Amino acid sequence: MRVLITGSGGQVGRELVRAAPPDAELRALSRGELDIGDEAAVWAVVKEFMPAVIINAAAYTAVDRAETERDLAWKVNATAPRLLAQSAAAQGGCRLIHISSDYVFSGESSRPYRTDDGPGPINEYGRSKLGGERAVQQALGAMAVIVRSSWVYSAHERNFLHTMLRLMREGRPVRVVADQIGAPTSAASLASALWAFASRPGVSGLHHWTDAGVASWYDFAVSIADQAVVAGLIPDRVEVTPIATEEYPTAARRPAFSLLDTRPTVAAVGTRPAHWARELKATLQSIRPIQAT
Ligand SMILES: NC(=O)c1ccc[n+]([C@@H]2O[C@H](COP(=O)([O-])OP(=O)(O)OC[C@H]3O[C@@H](n4cnc5c(N)ncnc54)[C@H](OP(=O)(O)O)[C@@H]3O)[C@@H](O)[C@H]2O)c1
Repeated sequence: MRVLITGSGGQVGRELVRAAPPDAELRALSRGELDIGDEAAVWAVVKEFMPAVIINAAAYTAVDRAETERDLAWKVNATAPRLLAQSAAAQGGCRLIHISSDYVFSGESSRPYRTDDGPGPINEYGRSKLGGERAVQQALGAMAVIVRSSWVYSAHERNFLHTMLRLMREGRPVRVVADQIGAPTSAASLASALWAFASRPGVSGLHHWTDAGVASWYDFAVSIADQAVVAGLIPDRVEVTPIATEEYPTAARRPAFSLLDTRPTVAAVGTRPAHWARELKATLQSIRPIQAT
């Protein structure tokens, strides 16, 4: 199976490469190797490599900056995925697995969001991700798979886990929002799920995939503090203080409730997510203590 991975330098992209099954003939391209907004480059790669599956792990993910960089967010998150879908359609028989986000929802639900719940993004990043979903489905129909996930982190740069570890290593008290609820999801487990989608040609449409369980950002931070000591990444357990969203103003509003109902996806792809705390432990254990200093 020939698989083209875009955005291979990001958190999910790296894990996709790491978890690639032995029978996958991979072309994994980072932003420097393929700008998914570059129409000519995208068409050239797809025409030459002739993938059976494209997994799009490239995205504009700077949630707060998207409020002021609207055009760029839409270009990367909506226009470029349409281009990928069109190039897959022109290829004939090529599937596109596109990653989307819990931020397409408003966060006003009191039960996990289902795929047939109406979206209602409350920030520009979420609107651009919803634009991407629609563009991909429009251009590729049943050959498109859209996988929404939430609160993705990995052992690599620029995510909540890394920010927490940095603050905790500095030994400062850490204040974290306790009134936003979701499911932390390791990039490694999301990548495994994406490979399960890739290996099931009969699966298409909209799906939800996150690690199991429920947490606030505060719960997640407390668990990081506890487990990071055990993993030897910080010397002592750090105090984590719960705060309200209003006490941590950001440019973009965040949904207060981000849980996604993964049950139909579990049935469709035959792989069940582990609890987020277990995935967190595995991720922390993959960071060498020396990296943390
Ligand atoms: N992170 C989360 O909490 C979260 C939650 C739900 C869903 N998602 C979705 O999961 C997917 C993967 O996100 P991630 O967490 O792995 O984000 P990430 O670490 O920011 O990775 C995204 C990658 O895309 C690259 N990229 C940006 N613009 C590009 C372009 N024009 N052409 C090619 N590559 C480009 C980025 O390169 P640079 O670093 O050089 O900009 C980066 O390597 C995205 O669709 C995201 O929306 C993420």
